[in-house]
Amino acid sequence: MNRETLYSIRMRAAHHGQHVSGAERVVSADKIDQSVHSLTVRAKRKIPHPHQIVITIESLQELPVRAVTALDVVTVNASDMTAGRSSASTLLQGLGIAQAAVHQAMVCLARGPAPSGGNMRGAMIIDAETGRRLEPDQERGLRATRFDWSDEAYGEVDGMLTGAGLTHFRIREALALATKVAHAPHVLAELCWSDDSDYFAGYVASLRTGYVRFPVLKPEHDSHGGRAIFVDRIGLDMSALRRYLQQDVVLISSVGAIRRSLEPENILESINTD
Ligand code: COA
Ligand code: AMP
Repeated sequence: MNRETLYSIRMRAAHHGQHVSGAERVVSADKIDQSVHSLTVRAKRKIPHPHQIVITIESLQELPVRAVTALDVVTVNASDMTAGRSSASTLLQGLGIAQAAVHQAMVCLARGPAPSGGNMRGAMIIDAETGRRLEPDQERGLRATRFDWSDEAYGEVDGMLTGAGLTHFRIREALALATKVAHAPHVLAELCWSDDSDYFAGYVASLRTGYVRFPVLKPEHDSHGGRAIFVDRIGLDMSALRRYLQQDVVLISSVGAIRRSLEPENILESINTD
């Protein structure tokens, strides 16, 4: 039986050549117009108003679609940045990532990981053992793209997150992105805090922990941020990782659980040891 053709709808907006907004959907043909409309409205709402909005509509007919379950979500009750970063570091080390690699990632995210001093256009890829950066272009990094919630899963996760008081649109999008990244070959974990100066929360995500959310991982009014994807270097095929993140289509077709929040001292309880 032929699969219904899906389309990748991607929006990026720039102000004076600077990327200011981006979002994407994977939808059936009948949802293209509505998706283009809502992505355009979203870009136009951005302040300062973008000079350029680019919408790409691409048929995914030839590409396989991988259906995955969303990561579980758990919040750590770490009330400030120091407690948050310390707890995130403990968790990453509990996942087998060397202390030096965690330190290297946090230093980079805090100062802006691009060699030119600013934020990157994608994620760092970090060797979990040595902390060495492996992404071919350190200004750009690798970007996860071509992923979305199925309609059913989106409705369900939206209700669950709202019920848990997690109403910021960024969480739904970051959870989707983190779910795609966590299913990548050789990925052990991801660490993220936003480059948005008004958004301080961040996360550690992996298949073994789910999406572990820290309410504060950066100082107020700081516009430095980024993503660090920690990989097991042994057997890593960088082309396969790049292909998975940037080309393979991932549809999140079922939701995970919202788990009971954790105190920072109990952070390692979030690791599934099965
Ligand atoms: N940050 C900075 N610049 C970006 C960017 C981003 N996230 N995405 C695109 N650009 C700019 C870059 O200059 C890029 O050139 P490069 O490939 O040399 O870096 C250029 O736009 C073209 O990028 P391209 O990959 O062709 O864009 P696209 O239109 O196919 O996809 C996005 C754009 C924004 C939809 C996609 O990159 C993305 O980030 N998707 C995930 C969005 C999401 O859900 N984020 C959740 C965050 S919580
Ligand atoms: P944001 O969560 O949108 O504030 O993005 C934080 C950082 O994540 C950016 O500064 C980029 O370094 C990185 N990033 C942005 N988009 C992607 C993506 N699609 N995949 C991986 N990393 C990204």
